[in-house]
Amino acid sequence: MALRATRTTLAWVGRNRIKVGFRFSNNPLDALRSCRHVEVAHIQRDDSAATSLAPMPVALITGASRGLGAAIAQELESTHSLLLGGRDAEALTPLADHLPNAQPWTVDLTDHDAVERAARQIEELDVLVHNAGFARIGSIEDTSLDTWRTTMEVNLFAVVHLTRVLLPALRRAGGHVVLINSGAGLRVNPGWSAYAASKFALRAFSDALRAEEPSLRVTSIHPGRIDTDMQRAIISAEGKDEYNPDDFLKTSTVALAVGNAIRTPRDAHPTEVMLRPATR
Ligand SMILES: NC(=O)c1ccc[n+]([C@@H]2O[C@H](COP(=O)([O-])OP(=O)(O)OC[C@H]3O[C@@H](n4cnc5c(N)ncnc54)[C@H](OP(=O)(O)O)[C@@H]3O)[C@@H](O)[C@H]2O)c1
Repeated sequence: MALRATRTTLAWVGRNRIKVGFRFSNNPLDALRSCRHVEVAHIQRDDSAATSLAPMPVALITGASRGLGAAIAQELESTHSLLLGGRDAEALTPLADHLPNAQPWTVDLTDHDAVERAARQIEELDVLVHNAGFARIGSIEDTSLDTWRTTMEVNLFAVVHLTRVLLPALRRAGGHVVLINSGAGLRVNPGWSAYAASKFALRAFSDALRAEEPSLRVTSIHPGRIDTDMQRAIISAEGKDEYNPDDFLKTSTVALAVGNAIRTPRDAHPTEVMLRPATR
């Protein structure tokens, strides 16, 4: 029985592993159930298909469901096969459907066992973008220990754990680790104690990783305020009535800086990038 595939999707999950999905115009299940071997007899190039057959380096972006992470995914989609990190598969699906070389990578980064399980599928990793983050501002007096713990869990411990479990995959590829830090990782303002402490520590981790792993490139990105959900919540917590997106960096601009760091030729090691909104 001939099966006619009307649509295929390819996702690179390592340099030597791809996942292939088929959609058939006839029901293939009965035929496939009776098969012991499946032979691919004919592969035809179809330039109208949305899928690229070229092997591409693999990039995992955490926090890709929205904000800066989603913009980084759009920035890398033409050059990389993407694993879109996020907690909620449904939130990742629209972006994954829109980007032909992307698939969701669903895990809560603070669930360390689940992170280990999810990371097992990744044999080689060219780019790891630690983007997921948490920010809750307030005075030291008003900031609870729970807020400190969540901030440290998401912004630091989750990054440390994910990096450690992916180190073999990164070393195999001679990979690039990009850590989305902040201006708050370089200087502290009143009301920012927990967030700034987590980002200062993240900076220390990045510098140690670069010093210990000479086969990897490690880049700290320090943007100022960006127009995202996180910034809207911060402006509201600061008691400001108006939110003007033009006061802040665009996600696409910061994503471009991330893309430029990743595309920097291998004779250079982009160690840190700082960006401030032009209006400030
Ligand atoms: N916005 C700014 O002004 C600004 C400035 C400098 C640096 N940054 C940094 O830029 C990065 C991105 O920030 P953003 O403004 O795009 O933030 P955002 O709009 O609040 O988005 C945060 C992202 O992190 C994910 N995330 C949070 N906790 C997670 C967890 N436990 N497990 C998995 N994913 C989790 C969220 O997933 P869900 O959708 O599941 O919640 C979401 O995708 C952060 O590291 C932030 O610190 C932001």
